[in-house]
Amino acid sequence: MALLKVQHVKKNFGQTEVLKDISFTMEKGEALSIIGSSGSGKTTLLRCLNFLETPDEGQIIVNGETLFDGSAHTHFSDEQIRKKRLHFGLVFQQFNLFPQYTALENVTLAPKLLSADKTGAQFTNIEETARRLLGMMGLLNRANNYPHQLSGGQQQRVAIARALALHPDILCFDEPTSALDPELTGEVLRVIRSLAEQHTTMIIVTHEMKFAHDVADKVLFMDNGVILEQGTPEEVFDKPQHERTRQFLAGYRDVT
Ligand SMILES: Nc1ncnc2c1ncn2[C@@H]1O[C@H](COP(=O)(O)OP(=O)(O)O)[C@@H](O)[C@H]1O
Ligand SMILES: [Mg+2]
Repeated sequence: MALLKVQHVKKNFGQTEVLKDISFTMEKGEALSIIGSSGSGKTTLLRCLNFLETPDEGQIIVNGETLFDGSAHTHFSDEQIRKKRLHFGLVFQQFNLFPQYTALENVTLAPKLLSADKTGAQFTNIEETARRLLGMMGLLNRANNYPHQLSGGQQQRVAIARALALHPDILCFDEPTSALDPELTGEVLRVIRSLAEQHTTMIIVTHEMKFAHDVADKVLFMDNGVILEQGTPEEVFDKPQHERTRQFLAGYRDVT
């Protein structure tokens, strides 16, 4: 059974059809890269998966559980949406750390809030997990630093640890290196690559084409609200079926 099934998802903003009929599946342990021009709907798709936007139509099914069904016209409470959202972790382009909290506190905040045990008995475990995750990100010595004391690449690695702390089924990245100077991009890509090697299930929206090719088990090329092409990295990058895909990729070959 696929871990994630997205079926016929549509989303309009006013008159603009931003997602036209999006369907794809993902298996547990897979890394999926999403590529495509600016404005093609990549961010909107991730926001729909993370319940930051509500699709107009379609289904989103995780682990056999239907999280969203457009034909059911169900209104979800905030509490229900928070629960659905936990299936996904989202790492944003702009890191979005809480500036008033240390790196460690950024990672422990949500797990502490969500902890059923309000006496704090679990908090030691939560902090241990957070330190382990910061360690995985190469940031153990930065645990007590505030975001403004960290480089962009370090902040993004804290954001990745924060997303992992909630044990999402699927970790989503929206252009995780686009706000970084080139010399800081590598350290973030290395961390994502090592997560892929550990078979973390991930969706990665990126303009780093070589990275998208190397890290992914599967690639989606989005164009103007549709998935124009999907397949293995070899299929999409080396033998694209559509002229539009070839044009898009050629634009990147020119600059790299
Ligand atoms: N909240 C919104 N309201 C209106 N239009 C939006 C909104 N969010 C995105 N759009 C439009 O949807 C289209 C797709 O945007 P987006 O999903 O951000 O694409 P991408 O991430 O691929 O660059 C764009 O034309 C954008 O202007
Ligand atoms: Mg975007």
